[in-house]
Amino acid sequence: MSSLFDPIKIGDIALANRIVMAPLTRNRAIEGNRPGPMTVEYYRQRASAGLIIAEASQISPMAQGYLDTPGIYSPEQVAGWRQVTDAVHAAGGKIVLQLWHVGRISHSSLLPDGAAPVSSTSKRPEAMTFTREGFSPVSTPRALRDDEIPSLIDDYRRAARNAIAAGFDGVEVHSANSYLLDQFLRDSVNDRNGPYGGSIANRARLLLEVMQAIADEIGAGRTGVRLSPMTTFSDTPLDSDPQALFSYVVDQLAPLGLAYLHVIEGETGGARIPPNAKPFDYEALHQHFPGAWMVNNGFSRGEALETVAAGKADLIAFGRPFISNPDLVRRLRDDAPLNEMQADKLYGGGAEGYIDYPTLAD
Ligand code: PHB
Repeated sequence: MSSLFDPIKIGDIALANRIVMAPLTRNRAIEGNRPGPMTVEYYRQRASAGLIIAEASQISPMAQGYLDTPGIYSPEQVAGWRQVTDAVHAAGGKIVLQLWHVGRISHSSLLPDGAAPVSSTSKRPEAMTFTREGFSPVSTPRALRDDEIPSLIDDYRRAARNAIAAGFDGVEVHSANSYLLDQFLRDSVNDRNGPYGGSIANRARLLLEVMQAIADEIGAGRTGVRLSPMTTFSDTPLDSDPQALFSYVVDQLAPLGLAYLHVIEGETGGARIPPNAKPFDYEALHQHFPGAWMVNNGFSRGEALETVAAGKADLIAFGRPFISNPDLVRRLRDDAPLNEMQADKLYGGGAEGYIDYPTLAD
């Protein structure tokens, strides 16, 4: 029987325990969308996590959707992330980077030359983003042409290579929460014809090509992926048959030999088992995936211990608890009380509510 506190090897990455810091957008990148010194300190403080998944980072200038999120496409960004990975490794931790393309969840003011966001569709969701001017509705997207897909895949490939050059132990591809890859997967959004629209196999094609390209570039054992089959985040309805769609996706991912699959159960930022939600059999997906299985969304200490002990997951990712508890691993081990999170300090701002949460030792 495994414990939450036991080491585990996932692909090529050896972890000290099964407690994962989930990717968390904090909007504190400095000029040039680089992680700055505060971000180095933030991740250093959390290095006792078995694995840190560093916040979603845009793979190209067109992949950004919110103000002051970091990127992984420029040499300056790679240098900034190198400070982060060095600090985490010096503190004994492991860290991967989440690779992000927001697709239609963006605003022209954040994009090169005021471009329209790109997506699988030209339909605009009733979603909001955060720009230099504050909260604002997302801009109307432009549907990508099929002949633009190869260069999009190249952007992912280059971003993965940059992440390794920046010292990360691997990458997690963000295919969740209604961002670009999810916009291709779901028939509630994807209204294309041709090789990337229509059937499940066609809608999954972009994700699978991205995963193969990254696995070829940096090794499957350093590559993970995040899915959220039942999330309706950002005015993005469920697929008409999420079980069939995500079963196909997992079956196709299985032979790649990925380090892990990370699934957000239930509604992102909401309930893991929403009242009146359509049922979804996560365990059926788990049974088809040979790599490490990581779950997320509001797990209590008791649920996390029980889930790992029962073999229902190999790793538990915690989001909000890691924001306010840099020493979350120790607190879970000792069953110590947790600090409250300051919700008004999540997105943007300075050190307050970012690097000033006390540890038990403090
Ligand atoms: C957010 O910025 O609110 C955000 C970013 C990435 C996610 C979810 C939410 O996956």
